[in-house]
Amino acid sequence: MIVIKKNTLIFKQGEFGDTAYVIDQGRVEIFIHDSAGEEIVLTVLGHGEIFGEMAVIDNQIRSASARTLDDCQLIPIQKDQIFDILSKSDSLIQLLMRVMLKRTRNLNDSLAGISTAKEVVEPKTNPKMEQVFDKIKLENQLLEAHHNNEFEIHHQPMVDLQTSKIVGSEALIRWNNPSLGMISPGHFIDILENSSMIIPVGYWIFEECFRHYKVIAEKTSMKDFSISINVSGRQFVHYTFLNTLKELVIKHQINPKFFKLELTERILVEGLAVIDILRQCHEMGFLISLDDFGTGFSSMQYLSQMPVDNLKIDRSFVMNVINDKKTESIVHSIIFLGKKLGMSIIAEGLECEAEIKKMHSLGAEFGQGYYFGRSMKLAELIEKINQTP
Ligand code: C2E
Ligand code: CMP
Ligand code: CA
Ligand code: CA
Repeated sequence: MIVIKKNTLIFKQGEFGDTAYVIDQGRVEIFIHDSAGEEIVLTVLGHGEIFGEMAVIDNQIRSASARTLDDCQLIPIQKDQIFDILSKSDSLIQLLMRVMLKRTRNLNDSLAGISTAKEVVEPKTNPKMEQVFDKIKLENQLLEAHHNNEFEIHHQPMVDLQTSKIVGSEALIRWNNPSLGMISPGHFIDILENSSMIIPVGYWIFEECFRHYKVIAEKTSMKDFSISINVSGRQFVHYTFLNTLKELVIKHQINPKFFKLELTERILVEGLAVIDILRQCHEMGFLISLDDFGTGFSSMQYLSQMPVDNLKIDRSFVMNVINDKKTESIVHSIIFLGKKLGMSIIAEGLECEAEIKKMHSLGAEFGQGYYFGRSMKLAELIEKINQTP
């Protein structure tokens, strides 16, 4: 908190500034000078209002001057704090904000009789803002990709470690970009999941998996094949999620028991309401798998309250289980705990026979990994299933 005496100039129009202020006590006058040097008062702000935010957000000069009308108490907010919050918000919100700031600047300039065209001030380049631009660009490309049907669902086989037979698959999204080729989700899934686009794309993923399931049932003799679908936290807690899922089940006439929803422990950051949503999905018949188990903030307390059917043990454990006794003990304990809670254990990222043997001997019933097959198109999966005796 800073205290500023009455009639003090806090900052001047045209300066660069790194701080915005929230008014706790007193009034602050915002004004500009017109071309003849006359003051034009734009507004008087009071308790709970913010000023000085524009230069901080758009990295340009102060669009107006600010002066105290009383003895004031102000709460300064630094640029980094604002950027931190902004960088976590939807890119569209960030863009809206920039557009609105630009319009306010133009309005102030025309009020002051300044031609905006003549007074363009080159903004200092800000690496964080550049990141926002790159993000918006990629988001836009992803939106177009969705409209142009460039996303594809590929399948990685999931295998019964006892019989080595394929029992299901994990659906993994790919972006078939016309000029860049097949792009892995590592390059775009975070952008997708952190924007509102994950909602329509997420439903498309469900529909595609439901369609693929029907093709698998028709073209192979598999009776209880299951498809695992990755669901992001944002998608899962969206207010349309449960109803839309119910509608899609009816639309595609599928039995939810053949589908596993893969969630990571990170969904718990969305709050405890997720446990209730999980229960409702489970009541609809969907199975629940906890993905990347052991890498997040495992909350054993909640694990017992969640209707989890499968634990997927992350590759980071699997890759060290042969050579590291401590990892082996951890994996042993995770499997013991999972089984006590009535869950099936799936080992992820199996790349060699030694890993498979070890994980199986520790109690994992199912596995997936490059050893059994990388993610592949539906036709290839069907061929692989039909080749296996
Ligand atoms: P994940 O859910 O943990 O998926 C497993 C990732 O490990 C996949 O990468 C898979 O190709 C890779 N993998 C499988 N076996 C092996 C192995 O033996 N060795 C190694 N080194 N890697 C292996 P991918 O397809 O690049 O997916 C990355 C992540 O993107 C996924 O991690 C998941 O979090 C996310 N993702 C993929 N598809 C979707 C989707 O449809 N929706 C959502 N929300 N997320 C998705
Ligand atoms: P900034 O440009 O950092 O510094 C001047 C501040 O005055 C600006 O941020 C806003 O907080 C505020 N401001 C600028 N123009 C207006 C306006 N037209 N109406 C109200 N407040 C304004
Ligand atoms: Ca997964
Ligand atoms: Ca995983």
